[in-house]
Amino acid sequence: MSLDRTHRPVLANEVREWLRLERSSGLLVDSTLGEGGHSALLLSDNPSLRVIGVDVDPVILERARVLLGDYAGRVDFVHRWFDDFWANYIGPAPDRILFDLGISTFHFEGSGRGFSFSGEEPLDMRLSGEGRSAAQLLQTENESQLADMIFELGGERYSRRIARAICDARNASPIETSGELAGIVRRAVPAAARRGRLHPATRTFQALRIAVNSELDRISRALTNALLRLSPDGGRLAVISFHSLEDRIVKWTFRRAAGMHVPHDEEAEGSTSRWNAPKFETGALSRESVQYRVLTKKPVVPDESEKRENAPSRSAKFRVIEKNRKSNGE
Ligand SMILES: C[S@@+](CC[C@H](N)C(=O)[O-])C[C@H]1O[C@@H](n2cnc3c(N)ncnc32)[C@H](O)[C@@H]1O
Repeated sequence: MSLDRTHRPVLANEVREWLRLERSSGLLVDSTLGEGGHSALLLSDNPSLRVIGVDVDPVILERARVLLGDYAGRVDFVHRWFDDFWANYIGPAPDRILFDLGISTFHFEGSGRGFSFSGEEPLDMRLSGEGRSAAQLLQTENESQLADMIFELGGERYSRRIARAICDARNASPIETSGELAGIVRRAVPAAARRGRLHPATRTFQALRIAVNSELDRISRALTNALLRLSPDGGRLAVISFHSLEDRIVKWTFRRAAGMHVPHDEEAEGSTSRWNAPKFETGALSRESVQYRVLTKKPVVPDESEKRENAPSRSAKFRVIEKNRKSNGE
């Protein structure tokens, strides 16, 4: 079978630079393998690198298997949520760990699962195929929970109007397709909001996808366990995030690992929201006899030409942390 990549890896040069290994061997765990774009670049840069590629979506994992065919024998494919993978990982300490969060262009354009507001597909949005679909979530949550979800996970200022419109529509008949939902949101927002740069349903679709896959809940736990398992001899863990909710978790998890000050209100531990209450489980990191150093003082972002040529990269932020043994006296 021959395939072409749908997804163009974001910040490819930066990932290659920051994750390059000085020696010609090593282990990379790509926690979000997708179509394997980043892994392919790192495998081609280092002929002795081995990769464990994790993805919870069995369909994209099969694509990766084909697309990484040139590197057969150097890649192990693991079908799992990354937080479960890292909680149970007992293999050799990885030299490099990558998280490229969210979903890939394949999900929007080729999965047929209703991730995009511009199609007419079943409103599913599950990465794993298990649990509640987006259509079921819209059918079962009450209006105020829907409004909170759309506001907190989508940053949508018209969340209340949209939640009301969803409930009115579902009382008539269940909302089953992405096209139906996009139309409901479009009609619910004020006329001026329909003329903006973003499609009026962008934020609602983002919120729904994050909720269906419990995306935020998984990040902090996965990062902490991945840091615990990272090699203490210059191991590096890098994360590409795509919205501020993700980036905030990455930023504060890294700062906590590095023993830096974290203002209390940034921790959001007191949040009572069901949708957006990240738990920082970094306690175990401070008990380690190693030190962590955040290498990217500010997040690395794509340059103007990448933003122009690869639209999904526009909101990307890239952060890297390094782990080393404490030298005597530290
Ligand atoms: C942005 S894409 C990765 C693209 C990849 N770096 C490439 O260059 O092709 C993110 C991938 O991570 C997977 N994913 C997202 N959240 C996950 C999670 N919690 N556990 C496992 N896989 C996840 C998605 O299915 C998707 O394929």
